[in-house]
Amino acid sequence: MKKEFISSIQPNAAVDSLFVVDEVSLRSGNNKKSYISCTVSDCTGRLSCKVWGDAGMSESDIAGIYNSLSQSQGSIFRIAGKAALYKGELGINVNDGIVYLSKPADTSRVSEKDFINSPVDIAACKKQILALIETIGDEGLRTLVLSAVTKADGFFEKPAAKGRHHGYTGGLCEHSLEVAKIALSIESGLIGVKLSRDLLIAGAILHDIGKCGSFEKKGLSYVPVPEYSLIGHTASAMMYLTHYSKFTDAETFRELLHIVQSHHGEHGETLPQTAEAWAVHLADNISAKIHEVDEDLKSVNAGEIAWGKRTDSFVYKSPSHADASAQRGRGGEGTHAANGHDIDKSGKDFGDEKKSQRSITDSFQ
Ligand SMILES: [Fe+2]
Ligand SMILES: [Fe+2]
Repeated sequence: MKKEFISSIQPNAAVDSLFVVDEVSLRSGNNKKSYISCTVSDCTGRLSCKVWGDAGMSESDIAGIYNSLSQSQGSIFRIAGKAALYKGELGINVNDGIVYLSKPADTSRVSEKDFINSPVDIAACKKQILALIETIGDEGLRTLVLSAVTKADGFFEKPAAKGRHHGYTGGLCEHSLEVAKIALSIESGLIGVKLSRDLLIAGAILHDIGKCGSFEKKGLSYVPVPEYSLIGHTASAMMYLTHYSKFTDAETFRELLHIVQSHHGEHGETLPQTAEAWAVHLADNISAKIHEVDEDLKSVNAGEIAWGKRTDSFVYKSPSHADASAQRGRGGEGTHAANGHDIDKSGKDFGDEKKSQRSITDSFQ
């Protein structure tokens, strides 16, 4: 039975527990020595983990462990190391504990649900999405959206991203539902402007459906497939939705595709050109940005300002926000994603130079 969880890990504490391992990569530190960067997770959150090995290990020893870990991404491993803060982000350093990483742990006595990283009530999310689809007045569009989400591979289970926002099991359906609700609230808040509620719901729910083809299940986790970066989720969505064009008329389908194609706004290839496309783009931004702020604030103490790695800007945690986060019970302190920076064995970051306002004497190793 699992006793130690990500959410209870404190800086400088010894860690020795089972976690799901993914996002495995082989990196090189300032001293040119190789180390393994990965993410460890359980049902309470995710942490970055650096495997340095012990002093006597050769480059080929580290490479061997890397091969073993990368081939078993999504599996449960015994992680034995020490927790440390580096620039405000909690992580785990593994030295001697590397001996446990040559093969997955014995999981005969653990419960799988302790290892699924998802704060989402997927059943409730799915129910709300299906109920929203039911309210689409245009029968053809309603059939299109229902068919597309129910036939897509993992729409209700896959993450919406790997790290920045909604990067957990069920994240895609949670994000899609949020975008639909926010887009509808934009529509209801406007005075004297009429938007197509049908297109808003359809476009919002389907805007990221291409992400179903961006991740595949590996063990207890979802990992990106080459399509994630080679093709991208907007192009994947366009290709996928083409199969469902027969359900609606050409004009409605064109406007739906436009919402999907332009949902990244100025960061995409096509700027929104309809009111519905702008509403979905703005709703998408709100859902993503507020979750990024929320994630960044999880590693900030009440009353502190720190550099947010996801928001790429400073974030402030007011004492009242800290109370709200604790009540929500979605992880709290210690629920952090990988920080994405290269850190050498001495704890020096050789990524960008942005400084956290948390004590920079805290080092990750
Ligand atoms: Fe997107
Ligand atoms: Fe999105």
